[in-house]
Amino acid sequence: MKFPRGSLAGACALMLAMQVQAADGQKIYTQGGANPAAMACVMCHGANGEGMAAGGFPRLAGLSAEYMRKQLDDIRSGQRSAPVMQPVIAALSDEEIRAVTDMLAAMPAADVPQVTRVEKADGIGAELALRGAWARNIPECVSCHGPSGVGVGDSFPALAGQPAQYLSGQLQAWRQGTRKNDPNDLMGHIARSLTDAEIQAVSEYFANLSQQ
Ligand code: HEC
Ligand code: HEC
Repeated sequence: MKFPRGSLAGACALMLAMQVQAADGQKIYTQGGANPAAMACVMCHGANGEGMAAGGFPRLAGLSAEYMRKQLDDIRSGQRSAPVMQPVIAALSDEEIRAVTDMLAAMPAADVPQVTRVEKADGIGAELALRGAWARNIPECVSCHGPSGVGVGDSFPALAGQPAQYLSGQLQAWRQGTRKNDPNDLMGHIARSLTDAEIQAVSEYFANLSQQ
């Protein structure tokens, strides 16, 4: 078939516009993507994107869309090993990923009380979060992840309101080298410097902040 140049371009633009319209973030979240292997996110990430503590499934509501897209790219490329998420992501188109992450970024997340660095740090978790362990070159978590660990911009994700099991799982993954997608080994260095008890304590600290 032969089209005059102009009408072909026009037809392409129209098809593209239809595709963009077809990728509906809310629908992908609750019903899955066009490819059936892209299972509905809601099954694992909760009705309101709040995550599922018992399964260690992360909260997604209110995270930066850019951060989520970086993580999904890293999971797809294997820089971040995530055997449960990997087949879901492999079955989503870039258009679908854009739509669902934009939708999730706009979802409201649970409120977190403001904890400043000058506050009393009670226990190992709070101590690491608010003061760090400078003798071992571990900066306080809030220096990068923001006050109360609410996240900063597109690079430093929220820790507050994430399930403890998810947070400790990520720290263990860095330690074991199955997650190696952080710029300059920032988190790899920190995770390898923490003890198991410290990983547990600091994960519980951030997970419980939104429930105080
Ligand atoms: C069968 C369960 C399951 C389904 C369905 C699922 N996920 Fe996940 N997702 C996970 C798990 C488990 C992780 C954590 C992976 C790890 O351990 O690193 C994750 C991690 C993520 C992350 C990284 C979050 C972060 O803070 O780094 C994003 C973004 C994400 N999922 C988006 C989605 C989207 C969008 C969908 C739907 C299209 C979806 N997931 C469907 C289980 C699931
Ligand atoms: C020097 C800056 C810096 C400090 C200090 C820091 N982090 Fe991070 N953290 C990062 C960056 C950057 C990422 C995102 C890495 C990526 O792009 O995958 C991250 C990601 C994480 C994640 C993964 C979250 C997710 O949903 O993907 C966890 C868990 C985490 N940090 C815990 C901590 C804890 C606990 C501390 C304190 C002991 C801490 N971080 C201190 C920079 C920092």
